[in-house]
Amino acid sequence: MRKLLIGGNWKMHKGIKETEEFSKVLLNKEIKTEGIDVFIAPPFTSIPTAVEIFKDTGISIGAQNLFWEEEGAYTGEVSSLFLKELGVKWVIIGHSERRNNFFETNEKVRKKVKKALQKDLNVVICIGEKEEEREEGRAKEVVEKQLQEGLLGLEYNPEKLSIAYEPVWAIGTGRTPHPEDAQRMHSIIREILGKKGEEVRIMYGGSVKTNNVGDFLKQGDIDGALIGGASLDPDSFAEIIKIARGI
Ligand code: PGA
Repeated sequence: MRKLLIGGNWKMHKGIKETEEFSKVLLNKEIKTEGIDVFIAPPFTSIPTAVEIFKDTGISIGAQNLFWEEEGAYTGEVSSLFLKELGVKWVIIGHSERRNNFFETNEKVRKKVKKALQKDLNVVICIGEKEEEREEGRAKEVVEKQLQEGLLGLEYNPEKLSIAYEPVWAIGTGRTPHPEDAQRMHSIIREILGKKGEEVRIMYGGSVKTNNVGDFLKQGDIDGALIGGASLDPDSFAEIIKIARGI
């Protein structure tokens, strides 16, 4: 049985003050996380605050990106070493916003994944087709390429690597695929991963809310959810965790 994985991707939201406010409300709810894995990925600058507040609460802290070199003349980049030093346990790599706004290619994704795994971070690689690619009937082809090139030649422990299938047209739009269509794509992804695919957790992401998360998580090949907008509100994030624990 694959343990469900719930991740909150805060994107460029919540500085230190808002991180403290969010955490206070969330922790007041005395949420339980036994039986599932939960992480929150705040912006880099809020990470130390989040690590401190969520220590021993069952919620781990992740980063939204890293750079593949450990140190050097790379202005503006953040090293895996610095993240480890802060107590970060998870890292999201290849989010579509990074691919589309910051020119992150599959090759760059692979270098980042390699470094993150080397440093024993838990990795979530994001993949997913754009609207026009879906309309052209190329969704499977796109996802397959992202996966194969992103993982090319990498040895990995399936417990440390998860995939988030996030159709780009579903991110932040309120539109989602039908849970059964998402399930079909997840089972294709598992097949592409081959033998290790059985153990790899494949999360769904894209407009996940309290009212649809249960339908996604009930699908056999959907092992978790990566949540943007709904993770910014402590009430809805707590509710999503509760629903996941009840699945
Ligand atoms: P959303 O974002 O839940 O706001 O659609 C998901 C994501 O980008 O990971």
